[in-house]
Amino acid sequence: MPDGATIQRMFAEVAPGYDRTNRALSLGIDTWWRRRAVRLTAVAAGERGLDVCSGTGDLCFALQRAGAVVVGTDFCAPMLVRAAAKTGVGPTPPRFLAGDALALPFADATFDFATVAFGIRNVSDPEAGLREMARVVRPGGRVVVLEFTKPRLPLLGSAYRFYFRRILPRLGQWISGAKNDAYRYLHDSVMAFPERDDFLALMRAAGLRAPRMQLLTGGIAALYRGEVAPR
Ligand SMILES: C[S@@+](CC[C@H](N)C(=O)[O-])C[C@H]1O[C@@H](n2cnc3c(N)ncnc32)[C@H](O)[C@@H]1O
Repeated sequence: MPDGATIQRMFAEVAPGYDRTNRALSLGIDTWWRRRAVRLTAVAAGERGLDVCSGTGDLCFALQRAGAVVVGTDFCAPMLVRAAAKTGVGPTPPRFLAGDALALPFADATFDFATVAFGIRNVSDPEAGLREMARVVRPGGRVVVLEFTKPRLPLLGSAYRFYFRRILPRLGQWISGAKNDAYRYLHDSVMAFPERDDFLALMRAAGLRAPRMQLLTGGIAALYRGEVAPR
């Protein structure tokens, strides 16, 4: 696992082409996955939400469209600059702040919910990252995670492994224009990351109650949701 500074530099380099590359590599499905994350978060109008590792802000804007008042936080300045340049709809556009997922710059119980999309895998201590998200959410609030998983269906699984290992790293580098190995790292980090029951166990260890999971698109991605226990 690369250290935080290496991860930061890697995302800084892919930031200019990040949205374009996401849409192309996932054939647009990532947008639908974020909408599913919003649905699982079950946002009530006016609720305060935090999106951690917010990147270029796509999940923040989707949450805002559902009626939440959203703060996005990320430790990569070029990602935050791109997020802030987007215009939201409605009266309260998301705010974007610099922050490390391992030391969130917010008091306990500031938010009604916290989300993270394709970010927790990059945090050097994911359990500590989940614990931080739980800390800044009020008791009874929700923590929702969207992350890649490895599909287990026989045909889809082998086609996916071939695409993910052999094609995606080159395609990603070409479309993003990045000179680094960010899309090779994407493959390696997904392969190494705890998923499904192992991730649910991590959520429990971080103090989240009743964690549950929904697989998306044949198990290429998953949504996880847990509740913050009373303190
Ligand atoms: C794959 S991107 C995901 C961005 C966005 N959530 C999305 O759905 O497209 C991962 C993001 O996590 C951020 N990140 C990784 N580790 C972090 C940390 N420890 N603290 C804050 N941000 C972090 C990176 O800077 C990057 O913007």
